[in-house]
Amino acid sequence: PLVTAGELLKEAETGGYAVGAFNCNNMEIVQAIVAAAEAENAPVIMQASQGAIRYAGIDYIAAMARLAAGRARVPVALHLDHGTSFEQVVQCIRAGFTSVMIDGSRLPLAENVALTRRVVEVARAVGVSVEAELGKIGGAEDDIAVSEREAVLTDPEEAGIFVRETGVDCLAVAVGTAHGRYRGVPKLDFPRLEKIRSAVQIPLVLHGSSGVPDEAVREAIRLGVRKVNIDTNIREAFVAAARRVLEADPGEIDPRKVLAPAREAAVAVIREKIRVFGSANKA
Ligand code: G3H
Ligand code: 13P
Ligand code: ZN
Ligand code: NA
Repeated sequence: PLVTAGELLKEAETGGYAVGAFNCNNMEIVQAIVAAAEAENAPVIMQASQGAIRYAGIDYIAAMARLAAGRARVPVALHLDHGTSFEQVVQCIRAGFTSVMIDGSRLPLAENVALTRRVVEVARAVGVSVEAELGKIGGAEDDIAVSEREAVLTDPEEAGIFVRETGVDCLAVAVGTAHGRYRGVPKLDFPRLEKIRSAVQIPLVLHGSSGVPDEAVREAIRLGVRKVNIDTNIREAFVAAARRVLEADPGEIDPRKVLAPAREAAVAVIREKIRVFGSANKA
């Protein structure tokens, strides 16, 4: 069934594990996320990014995800990933999303607070949970000097104030992860995560988690991360499987022959992640 991310994260909090939040861009990935969650008997979050909304459209994503969630044997939340505006949040809620992220991390603190607060007010009224971001989680391709890194990471004290002033359900933190493929091995700032966690009592969200070693993800979960976002690892598995088919038979013209193995590869990687996050058999 379709549920809010808020209720999944509350249970994750009690159980000390994290719920996987997987990005979906098309029918095959929507199906893969639900198939993987069912195979692992796990709660799961399906999320749509700006790119996914541009590619498939809000209505298509919502319709596919709601169909998949509605018939799933496990609880599934439909979440807006990195929402850009109040207007987009409202569009997503109207389309049936049960959870939204408002990403005001590019804004000065006071403006991030004001925008997030507005979103919380409207979302709460209709039972939709809200994730916000404090600090800047960039792309792995962004060139950030070591000296600048500190400046973009989440400040624990600020996090405490932000959460009190906005009333968000969960908070995305910048502790050294980045979106996309890492060049080396990412180094997470665990002491900072620990300080954030003692300053805010709500579930924390780890973005850019593809490419983060399992051990580091487990440690982050131990320190209070309850939602772990994965996109890039699904893309890699999906496209690699499609490429294998096309390389084996360059004459293949049936999209189903290309996409069915890609969907299977996505299921496999999502299942692995669910086990690492500790959410297997928690549905
Ligand atoms: O939040 C970032 C996601 O990994 C993907 O973003 O679908 O907009 O390229 P995109
Ligand atoms: P990755 O693509 O690095 O897994 O990041 C996903 C993410 O954080 C989506 O919000
Ligand atoms: Zn993200
Ligand atoms: Na990443």
